[in-house]
Amino acid sequence: MDRGSKAPIHRQIYTQIRNMILTGDLPGGTRLPSTRTLGMELGVSRITMVNAFQILTSEGFLRSRAGDGTYVGNEWLNEAVTAPEVRRPELSSRAGLSASTRGSDLQRQTSPSWNPEDPESFVASQVGIDLFPTSVWKRLIGRHSEEQSIEMLGYPEALGHRPLREAVADYLRDSRGIDAAVEQIVITSGAQQAINALMLMMTDPGDEVWMEEPGHIAASAAMLANGCRVLPVPIDECGADLAQMPNELPAGRLMFLTPSRQHPLGVQMSLARRMDWVAWANEQGSWLIEDDCDSELRYRGSRLPSLYELDRGQHVVHVGSFSKIMFPSIRVGYVVLPEDLVDSFATAISVTGRAPATLMQAATADFIREGHLNTHVRRSRKTYAQRQEALLRELRNQLGSFIRAEAVDAGMHVIGWLPSTVDDQRLAAQLADKGVYTYALGDYLLERSLPPALLIGFAATDAGHMPDAVNYMVRALRHDGYSC
Ligand SMILES: Cc1ncc(COP(=O)(O)O)c(C=O)c1O
Repeated sequence: MDRGSKAPIHRQIYTQIRNMILTGDLPGGTRLPSTRTLGMELGVSRITMVNAFQILTSEGFLRSRAGDGTYVGNEWLNEAVTAPEVRRPELSSRAGLSASTRGSDLQRQTSPSWNPEDPESFVASQVGIDLFPTSVWKRLIGRHSEEQSIEMLGYPEALGHRPLREAVADYLRDSRGIDAAVEQIVITSGAQQAINALMLMMTDPGDEVWMEEPGHIAASAAMLANGCRVLPVPIDECGADLAQMPNELPAGRLMFLTPSRQHPLGVQMSLARRMDWVAWANEQGSWLIEDDCDSELRYRGSRLPSLYELDRGQHVVHVGSFSKIMFPSIRVGYVVLPEDLVDSFATAISVTGRAPATLMQAATADFIREGHLNTHVRRSRKTYAQRQEALLRELRNQLGSFIRAEAVDAGMHVIGWLPSTVDDQRLAAQLADKGVYTYALGDYLLERSLPPALLIGFAATDAGHMPDAVNYMVRALRHDGYSC
């Protein structure tokens, strides 16, 4: 027994007897000493032993026979059932044993992870949490957390909380020029669940789907996880270029696009290209998934009409999220769908984990309705523009011979182009080891078709701290032998 352990003594005794039974050291039918005798031998009270025996009896390890003491149950064989090592294999080998083709594909995907104890440094999708109006949020959450109603505490509505759907409809009309009925809007657990549910609903395993190259990793992961073949569509300064796809290629079930701000390169898709893609989808009977990510965080130039507005044949599904304009852990997003798809999409949502907590949805609805979202977006836009400027200045001053980066018109990261001999994935891993988090452009490519680069986020770093943050990166690079 370990008297310094946090585990109570009776629990320690229970665990040891249980392990002896499982490993065959105490075979079925063995008579155990009385609790009084065992207690004296072990130097613990009788009541401690009784507690341990009671748990073992309730779990079927021990049997007590009236007037005849306590025995190990007969069903426990006279040999080891399974050694603990065998029952707890390493996660990786267990996954290897049971993985399907899709599971194996997922194992090959790297999942971005960082230690929340470390500063976010340059994580591309990290928002400036210092800007979020937490006192407003606390008030809105407090308002709804006291409601003891089925609406608030039961399962969330399949299509999402009605007041939030209404608020999103108004928001899209006022700020995005999208005229969609409330009945076309479904709330999701972020864009990620929306994309997964769309894949489930629109594709069969083996289908060909088209994807921007480079493109949103989480979207291509969802495509692969749903058993689709993903074909890369090259990007130029006008966005994804349909003309570069071979004519003989079958149309593909769908195309995933980020027209507002191509993820990750940052260009806005031209109007002509938008029209090309809408015409393509209507001619081929394919779907366009329009991920409107970063449309609100535009610093220069004006926003162009969404694919959804340009589409008359109803082949576009518009996806939005509050991850970047509020905070990512909120897990609230939405889709705008042709009305006849709404019910099957809601079923796909329920299969992939249901809508977010109603409390979050209700507070988000109020956040939009009371004007806090617009105020927060305006403030974030202004501050992020300053942060971008500070990052570019420091990259130029401190790393100009190693990283080449230009200003982006929208979004939360720049692309830092590296010397052609550098392996961006290796470099990103080396930096991450020192707590400097970036993403490698190589992770976003299905084929290695672009020079090495890093996605360097600026939204989460205060402009005043930028010289030190970049200096830390310089030192980390030099430590790893890069001449910069
Ligand atoms: C292209 C793109 N779309 C959407 C999102 C938001 O995803 P979610 O709503 O699942 O957090 C991100 C987040 O980084 C993104 O990069």
